[in-house]
Amino acid sequence: MNNTPEPTIMIIFGSMGDLTWRKLAPALYNLFFDHKLPERFAVIGLDRVSQSQADFVRRMKDGANTFCRLGNVADEDWKPVEANLHYLSGDFGDPATYTALSQQIAAVEKAWASQANTIFYLATPPAIMETIVNGLGVAKLAHDRRRARIVVEKPFGHDLPSAIALNKLLSTVFHESQIYRIDHYLGKETVQNILAFRFANALFEPIWDRRYIDHVEITVAETVGVEHRGAYYEHAGALRDMIQNHLMQLLCLIAMEPMVSFDADDIRNKKLDVLRAIRPIPADQVDRFAVRGQYGAGQIEGAPVPAYCSEPGVAPDSSTETYAALKLYVDNWRWQDVPFYLRTGKRMSLACSTVAIQFRPVPHQSFPTSSQAAWNPNYLLIHIQPEQGILLRFQAKQPGSSFQLSPVDMSFTYSGTFKARSPDAYETLLIDAMIGDAMLFMRSDQVEQSWSDISPVLNAWSKTAPSGFPNYAAGSMGPQSADDLIAQDGRSWLPPEPLAGSSAAH
Ligand code: BG6
Repeated sequence: MNNTPEPTIMIIFGSMGDLTWRKLAPALYNLFFDHKLPERFAVIGLDRVSQSQADFVRRMKDGANTFCRLGNVADEDWKPVEANLHYLSGDFGDPATYTALSQQIAAVEKAWASQANTIFYLATPPAIMETIVNGLGVAKLAHDRRRARIVVEKPFGHDLPSAIALNKLLSTVFHESQIYRIDHYLGKETVQNILAFRFANALFEPIWDRRYIDHVEITVAETVGVEHRGAYYEHAGALRDMIQNHLMQLLCLIAMEPMVSFDADDIRNKKLDVLRAIRPIPADQVDRFAVRGQYGAGQIEGAPVPAYCSEPGVAPDSSTETYAALKLYVDNWRWQDVPFYLRTGKRMSLACSTVAIQFRPVPHQSFPTSSQAAWNPNYLLIHIQPEQGILLRFQAKQPGSSFQLSPVDMSFTYSGTFKARSPDAYETLLIDAMIGDAMLFMRSDQVEQSWSDISPVLNAWSKTAPSGFPNYAAGSMGPQSADDLIAQDGRSWLPPEPLAGSSAAH
């Protein structure tokens, strides 16, 4: 695959919105600064907000300035970027908007004296997607299967039927190979590294199964609350917002079989196999496999924060979950009966995303009981963020005349090993969409299967109102029921051990 994108025009629907400002503007600026964008590259911002070209440019610069990993954007560096930004305001339901868009695309192509690939980026609320897709279809802006692509953000649907309907709608205008469904976790370096860790090393794969692994824990803990997104979050909740996509994708990468080649569909097929193998949660036993929670008032880093129900845009008697934990099984030869515990929550005591692999104990303890006081089984911890790296815990003999075992850690950190800074997830994903590499994007069947896997929980939770909300204080590690979920199997959530050499280790 060619890593330099062809001439590209990126059309951003919702260009005055939060996502464009917060994620796309800085990512595009970083790519430009790192010379990753094609020489011929333009953005056409489209929004219903009637603003001037200058307003749009100012907003993009502000986004780049505020969130760019390279720090403040110097005026002389911004100038060449600005020259390639265009703005159109128009109603997404009005055919005239698409006529104006076609004309603007044609004008850019004429100036370049070259055809361009077009990427239609829907940075818009899900409800408007149908209108935009139909508009693009009628204006024949999608018919070139090689050149035209569409990028859609999560949430992709609200449940299985709505995801099927969305996929159907998209397929009336775009071919599957033109559709890029974003799950930004897949663009994170540490998430991509799971494939390298597992399949570029001979060491781990032979023990990566039910014979050696006791269980797997996937944790995505955030200290932030819902911030200004109450209106969206009220209809989503942690299960839809995080588990259906980000955590299920992590599970796929941990549980998938080795791919035959580094090919988008090969890898996506292997991930789909995992999702298809997830044991259905019996409708009448959801409580044994899933728990939900909602934060009450509490403290984050010593400062008081309000309860979820007091956040803007949230109903005072909301039953939306801000925390969810699941126990899943992957029914295949590799993983039969190995539990995968998934948990995520907002306003937790610390922000950390990790995958913990707990290995089984040694089959026979040959050391005297007196030497085993501190003994525990091997443990592998993949730190996704904010720390980035991997920790492996094993046993060593403590120095001294008596034979005492003691756990010790071996750590790899990105910051200590690699000098180059990791690109942000959106940079990786934008370039991949430009060069036409769909590996880090979700295919329609994956999205649907993932919704199907969590459907029993969605259904049960929609039928029965939660009792006892709020059930965890902001600044804690979630509700007691989540500890009980794992304790019923005689286990407890593993502590997020910091990596040696990282700031958190001191
Ligand atoms: C988004 C969710 O997909 O991921 C947010 O909608 C969440 O609720 C965010 O905060 C977390 O992403 P990251 O990259 O900060 O871990």
